[in-house]
Amino acid sequence: MDEAKGFGAELKDFQQSLREKVKHDVYKAPETHKVKRSVVDFDGLFERHSKKLCQGFETNFNVEEIKYYFRELYSKGYDKGLLVYGSLGVGKTMIFDIIHSMAKELVVSQGFQGLWFTKCTAPWLVSERMRSVEEGYTGSFDIATYHRGKLYIDDLGAEQLCFNKYELLEEILFQRHRNKALTMVTTNLTPAEIGKRYGARVFDRLPEMFHMIKWEGESKRTVSKKQGNKI
Ligand SMILES: Nc1ncnc2c1ncn2[C@@H]1O[C@H](COP(=O)(O)OP(=O)(O)O)[C@@H](O)[C@H]1O
Ligand SMILES: [Mg+2]
Repeated sequence: MDEAKGFGAELKDFQQSLREKVKHDVYKAPETHKVKRSVVDFDGLFERHSKKLCQGFETNFNVEEIKYYFRELYSKGYDKGLLVYGSLGVGKTMIFDIIHSMAKELVVSQGFQGLWFTKCTAPWLVSERMRSVEEGYTGSFDIATYHRGKLYIDDLGAEQLCFNKYELLEEILFQRHRNKALTMVTTNLTPAEIGKRYGARVFDRLPEMFHMIKWEGESKRTVSKKQGNKI
């Protein structure tokens, strides 16, 4: 009898501590999340990651514009995606690599997902899709994954036709628009060339899907070569 009483008391204590733990966890998590988001120094983080990924990283108007997009969206949330188009070698891929690296640090160190996005290239999507079909869908690649979530597609327009037949990226962009999924794109194609290649149904949706930034200039690859830097 005494033993049962003792056990009952123990159980009560256990339940109480569990309740406190749960209360503590539920209460605490959003608080820490909020604080961390506001104290992160976006520009400081950008500087650190740009130095890490690119020796002699230079800023210019386009870099600042893209940084502004991510800084705004980091603090206020996303509205539209971003399409950056223009010359080869100006640094389009590099800046997205830097932001992606920052986003990864925020996820790993703070569990903050707000800046996170999946990164891939258009040629990679086509080759993985073809491989997946050829292998009877047995691998881990699933095209439906790329119809949702935040996604950055590099080198739009550099891919071949899927099975020499159709434009996979037309389908992906169309599905993403339908799902209101946030898409970021870098490409050497102008919006008109995107329309020509992927058709009216993609072209008509571009303004709804993207803020657009035109980035023209001398290739940094050439500059790096002239200076004898290894790139
Ligand atoms: N902001 C920058 N400052 C200095 N060098 C840069 C910068 N951005 C890119 N680079 C250099 O130029 C090369 C080409 O950049 P990349 O981002 O691949 O160009 P794009 O994607 O526009 O073709 C990079 O490998 C890097 O060495
Ligand atoms: Mg590139």
